[in-house]
Amino acid sequence: MKQYDNVVIFDHPLIKHKIAILRDENTSMKEFRELVEEITTLMTYESLKEDVPTTEKEVKTPLEVCTQRVVKDNAIVIVPILRAGLGMVNGIHVLFPSARVGHIGMYRDEETLQPQSYYCKLPTGIEEKLVLVVDPMLATGGSACDAIQLLKDRGCKHIKFMAIIGAPEGVTRVAEAHPDVKIYVSTLDRCLNDKGYILPGLGDAGDRLFGTK
Ligand code: PRP
Ligand code: URA
Repeated sequence: MKQYDNVVIFDHPLIKHKIAILRDENTSMKEFRELVEEITTLMTYESLKEDVPTTEKEVKTPLEVCTQRVVKDNAIVIVPILRAGLGMVNGIHVLFPSARVGHIGMYRDEETLQPQSYYCKLPTGIEEKLVLVVDPMLATGGSACDAIQLLKDRGCKHIKFMAIIGAPEGVTRVAEAHPDVKIYVSTLDRCLNDKGYILPGLGDAGDRLFGTK
């Protein structure tokens, strides 16, 4: 795959270890859910290291008052793409407990693989925030592209996208359609199969998170 300035592939050994367990078809729903959260926390820590919104605050130690840099309250909005993106929300809330959450509902038409949008509820004032769009799977890239476009149409200017597993097709599509959006992917898989599933992948993330199959 071509290199893009707006794409970061983590390839971190600890994250890869957790993804190996995630892929295993024998991993239980509970363990799957916990791993998605843990991986998301690790990804968030890395993705935001350069631009966590911060502010200064006076802190009184037992000895004196000092000025400290702290994370700005309510500066981040998490936007999961339903359903599977929901599994990543708690993993970010661990680090940013005051982050508001917007929801975008999309499902892929099984025949055409085109994303169908069915729900959108975003917090007021989202335009001024750092928006983290999350979905564990970046396959053809259709859902991510449409979700990001929807946010831009609502006035969002600072958007990042995080996926746990990406296919080269999807990463390329989002990187080229939205060069101003930084894309973070934990691991890059080989390709898509003829049904649009990522190989080797982990199957259907929504079904594995919520036990629907
Ligand atoms: C999955 C996944 C992404 C989308 C990725 O959702 O969670 O949203 O597919 O595919 P794409 O990159 O080709 O658009 P799905 O459509 O299965 O809906 P679900 O989360 O409700 O199961
Ligand atoms: N959505 C999934 O949940 N898994 C894939 O492999 C592709 C899209």
